[in-house]
Amino acid sequence: MRNQAPDARQAYINEIFGSETPIFQQVRESLAEDGKEGINVSSSEAKILQTLIALGNIKTVVEVGTLYGYSALWMAEALPEDGHIYSLELNEVNAKKAEGFFTASEQKNKITLMQGEANSSLEALSDKGPFDMIFIDANKGGYGEYLNWAEINIRSGGLIVGDNSFLFGHVYGQGREDVSVAAKAPEVMRDFNKRLADSSKYYSAILPTNEGMTIAVKK
Ligand code: DHB
Ligand code: MG
Repeated sequence: MRNQAPDARQAYINEIFGSETPIFQQVRESLAEDGKEGINVSSSEAKILQTLIALGNIKTVVEVGTLYGYSALWMAEALPEDGHIYSLELNEVNAKKAEGFFTASEQKNKITLMQGEANSSLEALSDKGPFDMIFIDANKGGYGEYLNWAEINIRSGGLIVGDNSFLFGHVYGQGREDVSVAAKAPEVMRDFNKRLADSSKYYSAILPTNEGMTIAVKK
């Protein structure tokens, strides 16, 4: 969660499941220098993603929202040698930073960064599908459109994951005031969760991380 001191429960989780190798610390330091700390997933959330990847025999991932590449690097680590992540980022500055970290990492051959408008990149990726996993962690108002694509391009048994599915509290309550107006898309996020809660299509749940992480396996 952005700029929020951990409570005792979160501090415990971080202590046990939060350890990072130096590359991850470097990415977070770079985010902090640029005033973007906490927009990335946390290390303990990244470990949930890794665990899901291992559990689901996942080889191909599409990530919507690269930021500086923190989550992509964690996911790449959990993929087999022939696994691959396509990571999509709109912002050119973010994409340049991420590319630098990817190039410097041992995971570079597993990651393809696609800079540009996500819906265009997704369209271009359709030919390479269906995919094993789609991780949505970008502009919150776009989640509905990204899910439209994901529902068509996920394989049966594949996993759709949405970060921030509590929308900073806005899906169930008033929510935090400090989040930008653009990020407030409660109807979009409620609809996103409702669609993934459809038990005729998915085995699904919301993991109650600080931010909410909706996970759905396509039947
Ligand atoms: C914000 C975005 C995220 O994806 C996140 O996990 C936390 C915060 C944000 O835009 O503030
Ligand atoms: Mg997020």
